[in-house]
Amino acid sequence: MRVIVCENYEELSAKAAGLVAAQITLKPDCILGLATGSTPVGMYGNLIALCQKGDIDFSQVRAFNLDEYYPIKKDNEQSYCRFMYDNLFSKVNIDLKNTYIPNGETDDPVQECERYETLIRDSGGIDLQILGIGQNGHIGFNEPDATLNSRTHLTALTDSTIKANARFFDTYDEVPKHALTMGIATILRAKKIVLLASGANKSRVVSALLNGGINTSIPATMLKTHPDVVLICDRDAYSGARLGVDIGGTNIKFAVVDGGAVQYKSAIKTASSCEAILSDISSEIIRIMGEYHVKNVGIGTPGIIKKGLVTCANLPFDKTPLERLISEKTEVSVCVDNDANCAALGEITFGNTTDCSNIVLVTLGTGIGGGIIMDGQICRSNENIGEIGHMIIQAEGGRACPCGQTGCWERYCSMTALAESAEEYALANKDSILYHLYLENGNKLSGKLIFDAMDRGCPAANTVFDRFLNYLARGIESLANIFGPDAIVLAGGVTVQKDRLLEPLQKKLKKDVRVEISKLQGDAGALGAAML
Ligand code: PGA
Repeated sequence: MRVIVCENYEELSAKAAGLVAAQITLKPDCILGLATGSTPVGMYGNLIALCQKGDIDFSQVRAFNLDEYYPIKKDNEQSYCRFMYDNLFSKVNIDLKNTYIPNGETDDPVQECERYETLIRDSGGIDLQILGIGQNGHIGFNEPDATLNSRTHLTALTDSTIKANARFFDTYDEVPKHALTMGIATILRAKKIVLLASGANKSRVVSALLNGGINTSIPATMLKTHPDVVLICDRDAYSGARLGVDIGGTNIKFAVVDGGAVQYKSAIKTASSCEAILSDISSEIIRIMGEYHVKNVGIGTPGIIKKGLVTCANLPFDKTPLERLISEKTEVSVCVDNDANCAALGEITFGNTTDCSNIVLVTLGTGIGGGIIMDGQICRSNENIGEIGHMIIQAEGGRACPCGQTGCWERYCSMTALAESAEEYALANKDSILYHLYLENGNKLSGKLIFDAMDRGCPAANTVFDRFLNYLARGIESLANIFGPDAIVLAGGVTVQKDRLLEPLQKKLKKDVRVEISKLQGDAGALGAAML
């Protein structure tokens, strides 16, 4: 996808009109695919001016519109039929017989959609398709969904589209709740596509389009499969590069993301005082911003964030207004969120689950961390949310947890807990390889030593890991029951043992749950923070 960033809406409109004019000049009997909405109005204004000056001639042009409300009378002020007449057709020398719009008055919408699809096909296909983009990522009226319809079809409008379009009607209730629209494949069959996006209310979706993968929850991302798409957007809609910062106990990571690609990565050591951490982060942000045109800065931090104040047991943050202090030091507005949330956002945007809208990220580390994304959005609340490590998995006689509960999941499935289980089991099985490794290692075991013992065929190590997998499976089933995610993503050191982990785990799951291993691992936090 080529991206043209314009200074403002006027420049965008002129550029888009220039492309349409060039198409008509090159092929006077071309077939245009046209769009309605507020964005193309300026482009139509420019085309009218060019036509009236005699620079372009619409007399042989044929035009198919993307969509029409359903049901709606053709003469209704808000019909797209009327929109096209008022904004273009009545003001240029196009033959109205060569203009096609799905018929919103039909009694048989299914048959009308088939007729429309066939008309487009029989015309020889669209040479140049103009598209707007909805705030929810729709193109035409192809709304976000688990699957997208390929052909022209009748569709129900989502609440967000009805609300967005209510500005054109007197009341919300007057907005039609259905529409007839070209399907995604109908659009993708066009030879060239020009996508227009204007205004800050489109920046979220433009960013997801440029930075994320293909995902039916943002239908415009399907355009990434087309070989000839130009996105023309204004500065407000264009997200620019994004900088993500991931604060960890040992290192602070930085990542610059632009157009779906990681442009730059760096890391610095985490200082011991709050002041030093803030000043190190700010200097690094300022340095990176000197090199990259960064528009957004996101920061992921461990701990609890309440009303913008960060408190973290493992870092010197105690009700620290991180967002405000770093914004003041860097003079850019930054956005702070919990690091597990950021990692989950990173995974859904860049990882193995870009096709999902709902995921739970489970990080198996010193404890168990969790980030939850539902409908493409981070789940947040005023309280700590996503503390999945403290889900109780052993109701009676469970291991004590520093949180005060007993039987928490992380007391069985964190890496700390795995090592503890192995140590207990080694002590009870003194003829095992595991016990020898325990002694050799100064009366301690680690995840790596357990896998070494398994490599050497140690039954004790196999039993320890098998029990670990049982607990892991029970926790995953509970998460699946609560959230019904499209996938659960596992991250953390143990997940490098993909073969040992994934297949045996799947066998133990009593539910049909898609489990993925994190693709981004340690980079997920910074990449996700960039997307905040
Ligand atoms: P807009 O609508 O141009 O009015 O923003 C675009 C769309 O919803 O496709």
